[in-house]
Amino acid sequence: MAIIFDESREIFRLLTANSEYQMKVDDIGVLLHNYYGRPSCDTDMSYQILSVDRGFSGNLFENRANRGRSIDVLPQEYSGCGVGDYRISSINVTAKNGSRSCDLRYKSYEIIEGKQPIAGLPSVREYDDDVSTLIITMEDQVIGLEVQLFYSVFTDKDVITRHTRFINVSDKKLQLEKAASAMLDVQFGSWDEIHFSGRHCMERQMSRNKLTQDIKVISSKRGMSSHHENPFVILCDHGATETYGDCYGMMLMYSGNHKIEIEQDQAGSTRIVAGINDENFSWCLEAGESFDTPEAIMAYTSEGLEKLSHIYHNIIRENVCDRKYMDVKRPILINNWEATYFDFTAEKIIDIASAASELGVEMMVLDDGWFGKRDDDNSGLGDWFVNEKKLNGGLSRLSEEIGKLGMKFGLWFEPEMVNEDSKLFREHPEWALVDPDRHPTMARNQLVLDMSNPKVQDYLFNCISNILDNANISYIKWDFNRSISNVFSKNLPNKKQGEVAHRFVLGTYSLLERLLDAYPGLMIEGCSGGGGRFDAGMLYYCPQIWCSDDTDAIERLEIQEGTSFGYPVSAVGSHVSASPNHQTGRSTPLYTRGVVAMSGTFGYELDVTKMSDEEKAEVKEQIATFNKYYWLIQKGDYYRLVNEEQAEIYKAWEFAAVDKSEALVNIVVKKSQANAKIKIIKLRGLEEGALYSLEDTDKVFSGAALMYGGFAINIAMGDYPSAQLHFVRQ
Ligand code: GLA
Repeated sequence: MAIIFDESREIFRLLTANSEYQMKVDDIGVLLHNYYGRPSCDTDMSYQILSVDRGFSGNLFENRANRGRSIDVLPQEYSGCGVGDYRISSINVTAKNGSRSCDLRYKSYEIIEGKQPIAGLPSVREYDDDVSTLIITMEDQVIGLEVQLFYSVFTDKDVITRHTRFINVSDKKLQLEKAASAMLDVQFGSWDEIHFSGRHCMERQMSRNKLTQDIKVISSKRGMSSHHENPFVILCDHGATETYGDCYGMMLMYSGNHKIEIEQDQAGSTRIVAGINDENFSWCLEAGESFDTPEAIMAYTSEGLEKLSHIYHNIIRENVCDRKYMDVKRPILINNWEATYFDFTAEKIIDIASAASELGVEMMVLDDGWFGKRDDDNSGLGDWFVNEKKLNGGLSRLSEEIGKLGMKFGLWFEPEMVNEDSKLFREHPEWALVDPDRHPTMARNQLVLDMSNPKVQDYLFNCISNILDNANISYIKWDFNRSISNVFSKNLPNKKQGEVAHRFVLGTYSLLERLLDAYPGLMIEGCSGGGGRFDAGMLYYCPQIWCSDDTDAIERLEIQEGTSFGYPVSAVGSHVSASPNHQTGRSTPLYTRGVVAMSGTFGYELDVTKMSDEEKAEVKEQIATFNKYYWLIQKGDYYRLVNEEQAEIYKAWEFAAVDKSEALVNIVVKKSQANAKIKIIKLRGLEEGALYSLEDTDKVFSGAALMYGGFAINIAMGDYPSAQLHFVRQ
């Protein structure tokens, strides 16, 4: 059993293959966090919680004679508010009488086999995994609030998922002002926090900082998880490397406003609190009502960042994304966006598809501009009916023509948005999120629809269904091209306006769920101006997400590497685009663009009809190469091979088969140098004593030689050369 309640010692032990999570109920019902780390061999780790009287750290009333027991210092599972823990609160709640205190004490527990879904929210799926769930109920009897802490233990995956349910058991209204999904107190250690920040066209850049006595906040209030701060943080030993050191991961499975706070306190302990961003959040909990938070995916390893990434890659591939995508090869696509932008006709799209199909491309995706009045990005959003002027014969003819080429057909939507210049807005201005008596803030000249309104959801469901029912469409690119502002729903009363941002996300999830239920064969690729909504919440519905609007292969090296810390390659939308690149103006070899795009779902985003015969021949080869390595790339273990010092000059990464039978190493030189140093690539994930031959050569190496000595390479000259090396066990 992965969850043990040891009654005699009053400890809860959550055991995964390589970790143990422990809590203890103390003598006055405070739920203490004992430990999270390598298995303890059945030790009550509370011996580490010493009583220390620290000035200005007060004591709960029952402990007034015991000054060493302060909730301001004790490691806990879920902090209350206003009663003397001055570190980050997990909850903020206001009672009917205006009181803002909450003192949570242990009430009861339950252990269940398996895992319950969270109504209305995506959560990590249980398939044939060994999963059990601990539900601990805490209570504040004074205000009549119960707080249930859910811990689901995925034994073999080394993952614990958490979420929290708030139940108003009083007969009066409670107002939730903050409702964290999870909290983690780590008593000892010298830690770095790692988070992934960025901007449009440069998402998820790794940022590693040593913690000092301070609070660090990773958050978004843009209505989506954002390009700017991804809802994922790592806490690692100050000295941790790819292959060494304690690492904790905290990832929110949420696509809206999030907040992860990390505090190092006066005593050197570290607290992480993760959940919905409490800024502008306020949830009215009437008597008897309950509220569920999004889920957090938590992991620990003692084996460094690489192992932590592997844990997240596995759980996302196998339990966050629908597992049906694991064993079905996804189509290599061509997207017309960078080929034509808004300027296309049906004939042009068919020409691109036809040229691409001859090279082995399997799906044509028609991007923005096919609907309503949409010749640029100032109008038309919301009018999801085909623009027959551009596409004579409509989508049914187009999809039929594409089908004749042996290709699938995919279509772009941006469902949650509306332009003022659209039929939809003229008919339903009240469906947009707009403050009363105030001009809305515009972005890309568009407004955001009120997804919390069921009528809006129904409208979108009907429009999208109508399109899907009348053409042969197997894929949707689901975009989201602005940050939310003026978050006010005309459909909700004043007292519920603090709920709109979260209800918006619930509305989007509900629409996605409904469409996927109605069209089980449909695949949705997530997108938000590239990777502005690249999170585990969206991955529940979309097995792949367009990683960035920056398609420059060299910039993509950084973006895709940053993404790889938390997310698997199978989720990364990546395409070969034109050179010079449209975002940076940089020219790169077609070969290198292929190598980089292959570390993703792979596809093309350029006008193939304009390519030379040599280039077309090279594309054919790229496609053959990608198909050959498809399963190794999608299911193999991913390794970042280059240290910080080398990273300015080149990047290298590897896919190694889980059974160690083969490995594909990719190297891209970012900076060509005269008289350059030899590059040494030390492989990982091989079998030490086995022999590996380097494909297309007669060279043979032991796994140990390749891993500990390394492979020496003096790569070709020129701008941004690259190589792929395939090693196969003999
Ligand atoms: C976003 C996407 C692009 C493209 C455009 C269309 O920016 O990320 O790939 O679809 O919208 O407007």
